[in-house]
Amino acid sequence: MNIRKIKENIFWVGAVDWNRRLFDSLIPLPDGTSYNAYLITGSEKTALIDTVDPSMADRLFTHLGGVKNIDYVISHHSEQDHSGSIPLVLDKYPNAKVVASPKGKEFLINHLHISEHRFLVVEDGHTLSLGDKTLKFIHTPWVHWPETMVTYLKQDRILFSCDFFGSHIAASDLYVTDESRVYEAAKRYFAEIMMPFRSIIRKNIEKIKAYEIDMIAPSHGQVYDQPEFIIKAYEDWTSDQPKNLVVIPYISMHGSTAKMVNYMVEKLSASGITAQPFDLAVTDIGKLAIELVDAATIIIGTPTVHVGPHPNVVYAACLANALRPKAKFATIIGSYGWGTKAVEQIAAMIPNLKVEILPPVICKGLPLPGDYQALDQLADAIVKKHKEIGL
Ligand code: FEO
Repeated sequence: MNIRKIKENIFWVGAVDWNRRLFDSLIPLPDGTSYNAYLITGSEKTALIDTVDPSMADRLFTHLGGVKNIDYVISHHSEQDHSGSIPLVLDKYPNAKVVASPKGKEFLINHLHISEHRFLVVEDGHTLSLGDKTLKFIHTPWVHWPETMVTYLKQDRILFSCDFFGSHIAASDLYVTDESRVYEAAKRYFAEIMMPFRSIIRKNIEKIKAYEIDMIAPSHGQVYDQPEFIIKAYEDWTSDQPKNLVVIPYISMHGSTAKMVNYMVEKLSASGITAQPFDLAVTDIGKLAIELVDAATIIIGTPTVHVGPHPNVVYAACLANALRPKAKFATIIGSYGWGTKAVEQIAAMIPNLKVEILPPVICKGLPLPGDYQALDQLADAIVKKHKEIGL
């Protein structure tokens, strides 16, 4: 995309990465992504807000082709998809200062070896005048790292939010045109990088709601010219109250665990609970992460491989433990051939989940009538527990 005008003297100068399919060597990106950088030319000073992933620095420099001077590079967040091209910008504009939070400065020095003398450190609430435009820096830790901050452009009522409210979408439309598409992409992103910090993020939402915001310009995905919907979505995702949803990540090697999972899905749905199974052999873990944002109960389904859980299940359990969803209950179902320690081993892998563990159901070989009765009891227990927490 070419340089895009947002408002008078405010421009999108980033890069669209149509073909990127994986982030942090972990997160699937089915819709690509963008690295949004913004140029603000005030009557006296010029600021660049964030940069782009270094793999696409050429796009940024093409967009900055006619820009003779940059006074400030605002670094909201030190992760390299936004900061990685800062050293190149500093080389091209030798008078530019990097504006960062105190922790941001430390991280940029660690990750990019930027010289100490190039920094202008801003505390929470500090302002910076560009002449006829004023930038206010608001510290918003943990969206996504502890050093993150956002910038409010007072005169134009624009919040530049970096990862906060962002979505991994590559699009030629600068502004959101399809809220449901953006909702899913933004929820996937929230789940994978911010869910563990939701109580702090709730405070950050309150903090930014103190400002009149006409537009949110994140550093990934499209710009929100009607930002209420994404703010409301974030309020929902960060609340402590789960939804009447059971998520069942599982693996089945020869069909026994799959039979149990399918049985549970039918039992729970007949009781009015939404049940969502994910066969980990084929699932996109981003979809699983999205559902973990809301789930009240997690049932992990595993066969036994050499006495322990299936390695794919181990991976999912570690992921869930890292993402720390708000689920209140968890249990394990599965099968074994001659012996198993799968339950104990999985239980030991999820210490971060503040859940009540419900009685697991493990069967030998194919499930027998007694195993189905145990699943009935488990389903009844889940229904009861959900009711107890108001679902
Ligand atoms: Fe888009 Fe946390 O970087």
